[in-house]
Amino acid sequence: MTQTDKNIKKYPAPEHIAIIMDGNGRWARQRGLPRTAGHKAGGEAFRRIANYCRTLGVKYLTVYAFSTENWKRSQEEVSGIMKLLARYLDEALRDMEKNAVAFRFFGDLTRLSPELQKLCREAEERSSRYHEVQVNFCLNYGGRDELVHAAKAFAQEVAEGKRQPEELTEQLLSSYLYSAGVPDPELIIRPSGEKRISNFLLWQCAYSEFVYMNVLWPDFGPEDLDEAIAEYHRRNRRFGGV
Ligand code: IPE
Ligand code: IPE
Ligand code: MG
Repeated sequence: MTQTDKNIKKYPAPEHIAIIMDGNGRWARQRGLPRTAGHKAGGEAFRRIANYCRTLGVKYLTVYAFSTENWKRSQEEVSGIMKLLARYLDEALRDMEKNAVAFRFFGDLTRLSPELQKLCREAEERSSRYHEVQVNFCLNYGGRDELVHAAKAFAQEVAEGKRQPEELTEQLLSSYLYSAGVPDPELIIRPSGEKRISNFLLWQCAYSEFVYMNVLWPDFGPEDLDEAIAEYHRRNRRFGGV
């Protein structure tokens, strides 16, 4: 039995894992490469981990790919990231049958190029028949933006007389989020050594376990995920109880 097989037995994987894919730029700098080379390597790490999550039986994998704040970066870097995303989605559409993964996109996609928006819509529509594994891509995503977007949608329905303000509950508010229908992540992993949330899943992380790791995202491999899951199992989740 390999170490991985042992871990699958010892530590059942959480149903929903979320990852802040951070450290691409530092990885590239360490090698004297342009930042986009780091993002390319980060894309490969994502493929590795998505495949491994399937082996582990993880149902939902949510990845932070581009934040509402990442537009502050140089135009060259932003367009490099967008190109990589388009290429990835093109491939995913081609290999859809083989992979049988459902795609969802969390974030305000209207700011993306029409081509990229179309790829996202197509990937979401064409993969909606798969139910075993779901990858949620956070693209132009911000936790605060998500809450504003939800509040506006609810207010609009109130204005139209479809809803009453008193009806609003935590559950109902959740249904207006980009993540509607997806259970909250049990585990949120941030590689790269930073210990902050950076506007990721602000509502959904209420009771998530956070695991911060010193590895840079392009170097992140199955053994790192094993380690994060093992750490998750060492935690004592009380949810406010005793
Ligand atoms: C994460 O890596 C990728 C995105 C934010 C798009 P970074 O590009 O933030 O890498 P560092 O933090 O500069 O190393
Ligand atoms: C968070 O990383 C966003 C993504 C990984 C997409 P950042 O690199 O943008 O976060 P900060 O700037 O270190 O907080
Ligand atoms: Mg970063």
